[in-house]
Amino acid sequence: MSVILVTPRLEISPLDVADVPAFVAYRRVPAIARYQSWESDYSTGDAEALVAAQPASGIPQPGEWVQLGLRATSGADRPRVLVGDVAVGADASQPHSYELGVTLAPAHHGRGYAAEALRAVIDWLMAERGAHRVVMQGDARNTAVLALMRRVGLRHEGTILEGDWFKGEWTTLERFALLRREWAAL
Ligand SMILES: CC(C)(COP(=O)(O)OP(=O)(O)OC[C@H]1O[C@@H](n2cnc3c(N)ncnc32)[C@H](O)[C@@H]1OP(=O)(O)O)[C@@H](O)C(=O)NCCC(=O)NCCS
Repeated sequence: MSVILVTPRLEISPLDVADVPAFVAYRRVPAIARYQSWESDYSTGDAEALVAAQPASGIPQPGEWVQLGLRATSGADRPRVLVGDVAVGADASQPHSYELGVTLAPAHHGRGYAAEALRAVIDWLMAERGAHRVVMQGDARNTAVLALMRRVGLRHEGTILEGDWFKGEWTTLERFALLRREWAAL
């Protein structure tokens, strides 16, 4: 049985082949790809390979990533349009440690979907997967994701100054984290 999370406005479950066209469409937007690991020439084949490589359970094992699709379930966005995704990676070397990444299609920015999804995924990891620690990181120029991480309650824990050779330049990363006990206290 694969993971399915339900929030007031979203259903969250592993990305499926049916999601590929919408997923590719927003990954190809240059502003969406700007601070991400892919380029704006992202293809249908790339997406199909990503979906095929996912663990069937939707639960990442150490060293694996799962892409959870965010599907809107209310208002003008019915029925279950793919509005974005949350990537969940299980740390290969530390137990019960996860990294998250999030992307929304441009038409769905500014409505609180990313924060709603991240809170649900963090809740799931803490409550169901026994997570000890969840981390996220963002390019220091990516103000939208830095604001998002703060809004969700992650704690800034470091700046990796020009530590990442990324898309042809030295890039500064801001790292955020949340321990299980910090999440419980929020
Ligand atoms: C990072 C990213 C997901 C953030 O998206 P976002 O739309 O800013 O975040 P949310 O969905 O949480 O929406 C928050 C905004 O919606 C507003 N909002 C509107 N209705 C809302 C509601 N019902 N509930 C909550 N917030 C709402 C908030 O006030 C906030 O607006 P503000 O930015 O003007 O303060 C988006 O910029 C993105 O996809 N970027 C490209 C991919 C990327 O770089 N990802 C980072 C890699 S980890």
